[in-house]
Amino acid sequence: MMDQTTATQKAISTENKYGAHNYHPLPVVLAKGEGVYMWDVEGKKYYDFLSAYSAVNQGHCHPRILQTLTEQASTLTLTSRAFHNDILGSFEKFLCEYFNFDKVLPMNTGAEGVETAIKIARKWGYEKKGIPENEGIILVAQNNFHGRTTTVISFSNDDNAKKNFGPYTPGFITIPYDDSQALKDALASNPNIIGYLVEPIQGEAGVYVPSPGYLKEVASLCKEHNALFIADEIQTGIARTGKLLACDHEQVKPDMLILGKAISGGFYPVSAVLADDEVMEVIQPGQHGSTFGGNPLGARVAMTALQVIQDEKLAENADKMGELFRNRMQDLVGKYDLLKLVRGKGLLNAVVINDSEDSDTAWNICLALKENGLLAKPTHGNIIRFAPPLVITEEQIHECCDIIQKTIAEF
Ligand SMILES: Cc1ncc(COP(=O)(O)O)c(C=O)c1O
Repeated sequence: MMDQTTATQKAISTENKYGAHNYHPLPVVLAKGEGVYMWDVEGKKYYDFLSAYSAVNQGHCHPRILQTLTEQASTLTLTSRAFHNDILGSFEKFLCEYFNFDKVLPMNTGAEGVETAIKIARKWGYEKKGIPENEGIILVAQNNFHGRTTTVISFSNDDNAKKNFGPYTPGFITIPYDDSQALKDALASNPNIIGYLVEPIQGEAGVYVPSPGYLKEVASLCKEHNALFIADEIQTGIARTGKLLACDHEQVKPDMLILGKAISGGFYPVSAVLADDEVMEVIQPGQHGSTFGGNPLGARVAMTALQVIQDEKLAENADKMGELFRNRMQDLVGKYDLLKLVRGKGLLNAVVINDSEDSDTAWNICLALKENGLLAKPTHGNIIRFAPPLVITEEQIHECCDIIQKTIAEF
């Protein structure tokens, strides 16, 4: 038998030696996942409270998605879009009906989805809105996170994500988040505004839920100014916040919807941009695409992953379990000075630690949580995001809250 502690250290040191150091993971080496659980190479079991940044909403290795994946993987995986295939059309129809849009453009990763939305929106701005070429502006929110490509980081205000990757793509103006007056002023002051790209809840920034009514205001201001409301629901979508989409909390429909992550349940990278004909028809052959975008394997996996969301009523469960989680955390906030507040919607929640932004308290709490069998990770500053798979049961949520309570009490 191999010394198991050595297995952990060996895996970490091999990664460190051969992999670029573009992440700073918790020191745990995972080898298996099932439902809400993951196991490390030493056989220790954990509750997963990150869900691969909300990509594994359906739970790890969901058997129905797995079956679809293996079936399709042994039938047809990739044709490219040089030819038609027998899955793509039904996948596109499925997505359009599921999310109530006329058309979809499928891609692979979230950042690609955002890039796609930006390209479509710009073309719409020039060809439909009549903005002079190269003068279009897309508004974005302070502290946004939309991915890691050169254009996307161009409108980030996170110095670490941005510094020394310039020169940056122009054509973006940043406005404060959750401030409809700022949006109103920006839209009124410039006729060249194409639209507003925004996360309905800011995930990476630390789970910032905007004030009630903000999304409604965004939708109506954009409409009033003939600008596109572009919702990035890559993290908030697919039942995570207790509704299918975070926009559904305010019954608003964006002009463009960007999805990724949990659209395929963590099995395969699939992303998509949805819009109605008036917007999507600006894209013509040769103007955008991706070798893997809309491939039969990803397409079938995504259809089953979305079916699971519906059949297992995961939005409803996220709503109920989230309520429970925040109530339990609220008790802890009242009891322990170390915790400042809890916020979130559905099962996208964050606990803010009562310490300076640059202290490593949140990181150390996550290390202690790991020892106690729960995996979570700090986001920006002293904020811990808690986002388990949406299949979590009431009993499990209570057990997890007990783990968190015990960890905080010991800390
Ligand atoms: C809101 C949002 N947009 C875009 C992305 C980028 O997605 P990907 O990492 O798949 O490129 C993320 C990833 O965390 C995200 O949370």
